[in-house]
Amino acid sequence: MIVANWKMHFNLEKAVSTAHDIKAKLCDSKVNIVVCPPFLYLTKLKESFESCKIKLGAQNLYFEDEGAYTGEVSAMMLKSVGCSYVIVGHSERRNLFNESDFMINKKLKSALAHSLLPILCIGETLEQRQMGKTFNHLKDQLAKNLQDINGTVIIAYEPIWAIGSGNVATLDQIFEVHSFIKDFIKTKVLYGGSVNPQNAYDIGSLDNVDGFLVGGASLETQKFEMIANKFEEAKGVV
Ligand code: PGA
Repeated sequence: MIVANWKMHFNLEKAVSTAHDIKAKLCDSKVNIVVCPPFLYLTKLKESFESCKIKLGAQNLYFEDEGAYTGEVSAMMLKSVGCSYVIVGHSERRNLFNESDFMINKKLKSALAHSLLPILCIGETLEQRQMGKTFNHLKDQLAKNLQDINGTVIIAYEPIWAIGSGNVATLDQIFEVHSFIKDFIKTKVLYGGSVNPQNAYDIGSLDNVDGFLVGGASLETQKFEMIANKFEEAKGVV
């Protein structure tokens, strides 16, 4: 499974043309493709991906269904525009918008209550890794974020120091963390952080990597397509 996280990029015209290009290249991909555009473009992209297996995801949600929450978007709303997935607890949400583990837990519950498949992002800072605190931190995030959760949650391991930095985690680091996560919860685990067409095959060849969450490289269709194809090749899905 390959997830495109467009973050806060593109105007409407560029979003639609990029979706059109992705559809042309990956409509029949054997790998599940999920595109997560800014909220505003979900409805339009639903039309773009019609008659195609590509699924839509949101980058965030609020945990209440409806009410006086200016500027927020709920799981109920996302479901009503045809979203299937939602990214929850991305490190940019945690760090720039002060999302707490408690909020993330509520967001996961709300997503599941509305039959959205949540993709929960966890990951350590460089400092935590250098101080040998990676696994304690990840365990803490998993325990708090997944407390009293019933239902499937996909996990994305995104070391914060690897996001948008070009410093991809090593294969050993990814393998070790994914094993740790899968010991904690039996689910799909994606890797995210500077995935590109050059490293997608090697990372995708690891048994316990079930897909990628792709930021920067998902903005260029050619790179995104290559990543999906390399992953397919690595998994032998062809
Ligand atoms: P990146 O971002 O691929 O640009 O490193 C990944 C992410 O933030 O999900």
